[in-house]
Amino acid sequence: MPETKLLPVHDLAADRESLETAAQILREGGLVAIPTETVYGLAANALDSDAVRRIYEAKGRPSDNPLIVHIAEVEDARALATEFPPAAQTLAEAFWPGPLTMILPKSGLVPDQTSGGLSTVAIRMPSHPVARELIRLCGLPLAAPSANLSGYPSPTTAQHCIRDLNGRVEGIIVGEDCGVGVESTVISLVGERPRILRPGAITPEMISQALGEEVELDPAVTQELKSGAVAASPGMKYKHYSPRADVILVEGSWDFFQRYVEENAGERSAAMVFDGEACRLELPALEYGPREDSAAQAREIFSALRRMDDMAEQEVFVRCPSREGVGLAVYNRLIRAAGFDLVRQKALVLGLTGQTGAGKSTLSRYFADMGFGVVDADQISRLVTQPGSEALLQIASCFGPGMLTPDGGLDRRKMGALVFSDPAELKALTDLLNPFILEETRRQIELASDGHDYVLLDAPTLLESGGEVFCSQVAVVTAPAPLRLERIMLRDGLDEYAARQRMEAQPPEQFYLERGDYHLVNDGGEAQLLAQARAVAEDFILKGTV
Ligand code: TXA
Ligand code: MG
Repeated sequence: MPETKLLPVHDLAADRESLETAAQILREGGLVAIPTETVYGLAANALDSDAVRRIYEAKGRPSDNPLIVHIAEVEDARALATEFPPAAQTLAEAFWPGPLTMILPKSGLVPDQTSGGLSTVAIRMPSHPVARELIRLCGLPLAAPSANLSGYPSPTTAQHCIRDLNGRVEGIIVGEDCGVGVESTVISLVGERPRILRPGAITPEMISQALGEEVELDPAVTQELKSGAVAASPGMKYKHYSPRADVILVEGSWDFFQRYVEENAGERSAAMVFDGEACRLELPALEYGPREDSAAQAREIFSALRRMDDMAEQEVFVRCPSREGVGLAVYNRLIRAAGFDLVRQKALVLGLTGQTGAGKSTLSRYFADMGFGVVDADQISRLVTQPGSEALLQIASCFGPGMLTPDGGLDRRKMGALVFSDPAELKALTDLLNPFILEETRRQIELASDGHDYVLLDAPTLLESGGEVFCSQVAVVTAPAPLRLERIMLRDGLDEYAARQRMEAQPPEQFYLERGDYHLVNDGGEAQLLAQARAVAEDFILKGTV
């Protein structure tokens, strides 16, 4: 067992000695864990088969899982690969140095141990200054898999490396935490068309744009390999990134997640949720970034999975991330950590809200035409205040029996006149009705989920009522005030004064914009609104499904 030297490097100039020591170890065939912009790597001389063999030993890694060779200059790639096609040139110009690994036909210089017996080699030019300086200093291409014990979450801090590899390697560079947090995007350039084998911070969209052609996504990125199938990337066939406890990925709204967890959690279960959600659960939970910030989730994900080891012994219920952009990489790591154990809400719900007269009903029709089930909150509030309903009884006792019509229904005009002229009365009514409305909303979503994969929840007070908990994403529609005024007067047969009162009883536009995930602007006619609705639907479906 080697004694592991901890080599602090925070500054290339000031910490020269550590770098020299690391380079020396590497030149002599030893192993050093090094920081890169993605995750820490366990480096060795890529051209020395004995050194490379020791990487597999130290990690406990299956020897058919090939390593990535790290270089400092684009020129270095030419010696390692027999071909450097135009697509490689384009991608190198666009993304090197950076978190992109290219699979190319390997040259005789690369030992079989490095390529796991394959005829191809994975090459990457990292952007991290310490990694690049080290490659230059030792004058060697460095083979470096992630510096974790095989099967565990990849290390994004020096502490993670120390925990996994102390006593198993000659050196660990103690530098900053990794900025990207998930491993590089791996793209194969040896097939007919470029194909992403592992998603990372360089997204499919970025690659397609650089290449000027649509890049393929290997099915193994999102789906379990059929037993007996050959993996394009051997790493994809192993269970990976896992904490001790079983990971269950739960996809859908907060309400679905919370109820699923509460029904299924044992005494030693825990959860991994988005920022601000942990305190809403009764079991131990930790947060892995804001719901709508995939880059932040990428930075946190492995660290969070590691911390889970101290929290959960049974299951970890994890909020499913968006698959858009870098989100695909986060999803890919989590679905593997979960061994493809994904629980999905029957239908995913898109919330739709905005000020009165902005165009929610028109949008609802568009979404219905696109195959969404639609739940209308206005109808729900009418439903819960039907004659004889519990809500109506409470209204009569709270606001007086005068609020009821002679036949026992709600006198909407009277009620409207009262609440739209007095904010305190409006709040009292809202607080009274809200629990009834939420309960009925949940029921209606359930109903609409039969026969639909996606449901639109059209609710003027979605954000104020807490109806957001039923939604995976929220779309907000806005329109200029004069247009809205005109529409309300026409639609509800109100005079200008009454229409303005209704408009003023609602929060300002900014309130919606700050909280929505999508923003539609309804000021340019039907065709424009329809085009926006289509774009939102497409994106919503992409985030949710692959
Ligand atoms: O960001 C990263 O890429 C990090 C840092 C340290 O650079 N490295 C890393 O290496 O993630 P590793 O070994 O943990 O993952 C390499 C992945 C594996 O899934 C492996 O199967 C795949 O790349 N791979 C390597 N060579 C390949 C090849 N010739 N053909 C197909 N897949 C290959
Ligand atoms: Mg790895």
